[in-house]
Amino acid sequence: MKNYFKIVLVVAVGLAFNACSKLQNNVLAPIQPQGNIHPIGWTQLSSPDFHGTYIKTHNYDLSTCTSCHGTDFKGGISQKSCYTCHQGISGPLSCNTCHGSALNPAPPKDLAGDSLTTSPGVGAHQIHLSGSSFASSVVCSSCHVVPQSAGPGIHPAGTGNALIVFSGVAVTQTNTPGTRFYDSTKPTIVPTPSFNPQTLQCSNTYCHGNFKNGNNFSPTWNNVGTDQDSCGTCHGIPPNTPVHQGQTLQTCYYCHEPMIGPGGVIQDSSMHVNGKLELYGKSLSVW
Ligand code: HEC
Ligand code: HEC
Ligand code: HEC
Ligand code: HEC
Ligand code: HEC
Ligand code: HEC
Repeated sequence: MKNYFKIVLVVAVGLAFNACSKLQNNVLAPIQPQGNIHPIGWTQLSSPDFHGTYIKTHNYDLSTCTSCHGTDFKGGISQKSCYTCHQGISGPLSCNTCHGSALNPAPPKDLAGDSLTTSPGVGAHQIHLSGSSFASSVVCSSCHVVPQSAGPGIHPAGTGNALIVFSGVAVTQTNTPGTRFYDSTKPTIVPTPSFNPQTLQCSNTYCHGNFKNGNNFSPTWNNVGTDQDSCGTCHGIPPNTPVHQGQTLQTCYYCHEPMIGPGGVIQDSSMHVNGKLELYGKSLSVW
């Protein structure tokens, strides 16, 4: 009788242990209700426990999710894929998950979730990217180093501060020695633009007038729609130089067609603020 109990006990303990270790190996078999692993509000946008908010307030560190949801975020041992909701081609690593929209990955929305152009993270992004009736569009890489992909250890760095690094059209050199209109009494202009995160002003960009005979205007990033792009801000109409004496908006086209036409109408905005001087029917990429 004693032995019988012993066997029953051993078997029972063994079964219990076995079940337990199975559970251990398979910790993530369906757990109901949700909240065992994650807080209740984890998938509710309005909750302080929302996973997006959690990620944002933990340096955007997605590496902590991969152990259960897989390094490809397609479920892993949790069998809960991030792609159910994040349906972009790269799932939660898509370029518009944390900033931007379906239109493009630039704000709005910004990292704070804001959409107004007065918000520093939003500012004048979209007007630069779409271009306007009078100027060509500006690519991200003119103002940022653009990551090729996102993911733990790649992007974001998690500092929460966007780096502004100017290149391309923003640093176009002018009054280059050896060119037809080179003026040796003036310096060669090699722009070294900067962005001041306190005043939110851009300084010394080619685009806003840091070129030969330009006005070198410093626009404020989040003052959109306040005429910081009207004729005469970046350069005079006309510039104050001998060749321009007596010229008016009506006559610019004599020498600057086809960019501008009769009546001072910008005819081809892609030729304006593109780093090239349109002069006498030619597009001078070095001037
Ligand atoms: C220890 C394992 C584990 C880790 C680590 C983990 N998860 Fe989960 N997650 C689960 C399991 C299991 C479920 C399904 C049960 C549940 O919802 O609680 C789940 C569910 C989810 C859901 C709901 C899925 C749906 O289809 O409803 C989201 C969203 C989620 N996790 C996001 C994350 C994020 C973001 C991270 C990293 C910050 C993370 N998880 C880290 C195990 C984990
Ligand atoms: C049940 C749907 C759902 C699932 C599953 C889900 N997410 Fe989300 N996630 C959302 C929603 C909704 C948002 C908010 C989108 C917005 O604000 O426009 C979001 C936001 C995010 C953000 C942006 C954070 C921010 O605000 O900057 C990240 C990163 C993210 N999720 C990662 C993950 C990861 C990783 C997983 C899988 C482990 C996951 N999500 C699974 C619905 C989901
Ligand atoms: C998980 C969230 C997340 C995803 C996904 C993401 N970003 Fe970002 N991004 C950020 C954060 C946060 C910043 C602010 C700077 C930082 O912390 O690195 C940022 C900044 C940027 C900047 C400003 C320059 C810089 O690096 O500071 C660019 C450009 C950018 N991201 C482009 C992209 C592109 C392109 C992709 C897709 C390949 C992408 N981002 C995917 C969160 C994300
Ligand atoms: C004309 C220059 C310019 C261009 C072009 C540009 N950005 Fe930015 N970007 C900025 C400035 C200025 C900020 C504000 C930085 C700050 O507030 O410190 C910024 C901030 C950001 C931020 C951080 C937002 C936040 O909430 O702080 C992201 C993300 C970003 N840019 C992504 C992009 C992407 C993606 C593109 C292209 C699709 C792009 N940017 C094109 C100038 C530019
Ligand atoms: C955002 C700054 C900016 C504003 C605002 C601006 N320009 Fe320009 N403009 C430039 C730059 C930069 C150049 C130098 C050549 C280039 O890159 O296109 C230029 C050159 C020109 C030229 C010489 C031909 C050419 O394109 O090379 C004409 C003519 C001209 N602008 C007319 C105008 C008129 C008319 C307006 C108002 C509708 C105007 N600009 C507003 C930046 C500006
Ligand atoms: C008679 C010909 C002529 C007319 C008309 C003319 N330009 Fe120019 N423009 C030039 C020449 C030549 C240059 C190159 C001069 C130089 O780089 O020194 C130039 C250059 C420019 C530049 C580049 C900055 C500079 O001075 O090099 C701008 C901006 C510009 N013109 C704007 C205008 C505008 C605006 C008008 C009309 C109000 C206009 N131009 C009318 C001949 C003309």
